Amino acid sequence: MTKRFLTVSAAAMAGIAATVAALPVTAAPAGDAAAGKKVFMRCAACHTVSASGPQKMGPTMAGVVNRKAGAVKDARYSPALAKSALVWNEKNLDAWLQRPSKVVPGTSMAFAGIADETQRRDLIAYLKTLK
Ligand code: HEC
Repeated sequence: MTKRFLTVSAAAMAGIAATVAALPVTAAPAGDAAAGKKVFMRCAACHTVSASGPQKMGPTMAGVVNRKAGAVKDARYSPALAKSALVWNEKNLDAWLQRPSKVVPGTSMAFAGIADETQRRDLIAYLKTLK
């Protein structure tokens, strides 16, 4: 009796575990890098994706994820960004892309920001592919 009960609950637990494992995908979908590449067209006037330069008005986006802010040698940075001590992790990038001037007041990045959360997530997924 007890043994059968345990068998059934083990199966039920496995079912629950499978459901829970599937949940985060629904709750927070991973960014779509291909869609993010299209969003990047809004950045490409000022940023290249080339690791070897030359730089445009803004620094290259090659390797930007988890890079220290203001770290591209031949790029021109505002004093505000150079002194910010930020690291471009996903959280900081998301805030920056939403409103650069709120994250680094005095930044020279003349870009209002992207209000759409999905577009920002896709864009960050694309930035992660740039080495
Ligand atoms: C009008 C030109 C322009 C546009 C458009 C623009 N940026 Fe920038 N970006 C800059 C400049 C200039 C800087 C340097 C800012 C500073 O030093 O304060 C910068 C800095 C950055 C940095 C910090 C890099 C580092 O090395 O610290 C990131 C990340 C960034 N931009 C991402 C983007 C993304 C992604 C987009 C598109 C949504 C974008 N930018 C659009 C000009 C631009």
